Amino acid sequence: MAIVTSTEMFKKAYDGGYAIGAFNVNNMEIIQGITEAAIEQRAPLILQVSKGARSYAKHVYLMKLIEAAVADAEETAGFDHPICVRLDHDDSCELCKSCIDGGFSSVMIDKSGESFEENIRITRQVVEYAHDHGVVVEAELGTLAGVEDEVNVKAEDSSYTRPEDVQEFVERTGCDSLAIAIGTSHGAYKFTAAQCTRNEKGELIPPPLRFDILEEVSRRLPGFPIVLHGSSSVPQEFVKIINANGGKMPDAVGIPEEQLRKAASMAVCKINIDSDLRLAMTAKIRQHFAEHPDHFDPRQYLKPAREAIKEMVAHKLIYVLGCNGKA
Ligand code: G3H
Ligand code: 13P
Ligand code: ZN
Repeated sequence: MAIVTSTEMFKKAYDGGYAIGAFNVNNMEIIQGITEAAIEQRAPLILQVSKGARSYAKHVYLMKLIEAAVADAEETAGFDHPICVRLDHDDSCELCKSCIDGGFSSVMIDKSGESFEENIRITRQVVEYAHDHGVVVEAELGTLAGVEDEVNVKAEDSSYTRPEDVQEFVERTGCDSLAIAIGTSHGAYKFTAAQCTRNEKGELIPPPLRFDILEEVSRRLPGFPIVLHGSSSVPQEFVKIINANGGKMPDAVGIPEEQLRKAASMAVCKINIDSDLRLAMTAKIRQHFAEHPDHFDPRQYLKPAREAIKEMVAHKLIYVLGCNGKA
């Protein structure tokens, strides 16, 4: 099967009260771990590539690996397994165009840091080019906090999405889905300790997501697919393994799974997860080296790392996104 757009996936997800997992990919083991979980769980899938991933691995390598995953899915699953390939967070038309020309079925233009008018102007340009090529576009309104390679927004520069803006934005841009800011944030340190409370185990409990904003957005955009970025849960079991094996990630905290499940049952059709993949992989590799200090063959530590990604993704598909069995 060819790579598909997210249009059909989102329609079914919206109507079915679940969300599609959009997982960031950077190398073969990550792609395999995610795809194997999606095949086993019969879950529709979005593989997404950031600007940083593209400069780390090169477009051609990632594209060939993703094509291999699609072929493997078809062969293993024995049916057309829907997989969408998406550019994550581009702030320039040029990269979007290059990914559209290079075989992606979806792109994200992220001009959320610009003025409303400038965001509309650039998003519209990308939408025109993308739609002419059969590609769908995700845009963003409101600004998430968080720091990663290519995404770096300080908490004081972040802002929630204003529901009163969404209808005009979608109408004037023609975008196919909209990422909104309701309190999620990129990276493994989503909230400062001061923003959280602590439970009886001393773990940080973050402030709740702004479901009132999500409700108002979906009231104004009935049937329209909403996206949540920055939605890793930062599982504490991974953080503990990392810290117990030479790592240093104090007070890493994410979005509680039950809040994501609630969002998935509402208008949220796509949930972006990257940091949790990094944590699963790093925890397993650190643990492996601590237990086997003599190992030096990358296959010895990348195989369990790939397995850890697969397990973690399967858990998300079933218990957080609710998209298992929907492919
Ligand atoms: O939202 C950002 C993604 O997690 C990608 O991160 O730019 O470090 O590849 P990256
Ligand atoms: P996390 O850092 O929470 O995994 O978010 C990933 C993301 O939004 C990718 O676009
Ligand atoms: Zn993001």
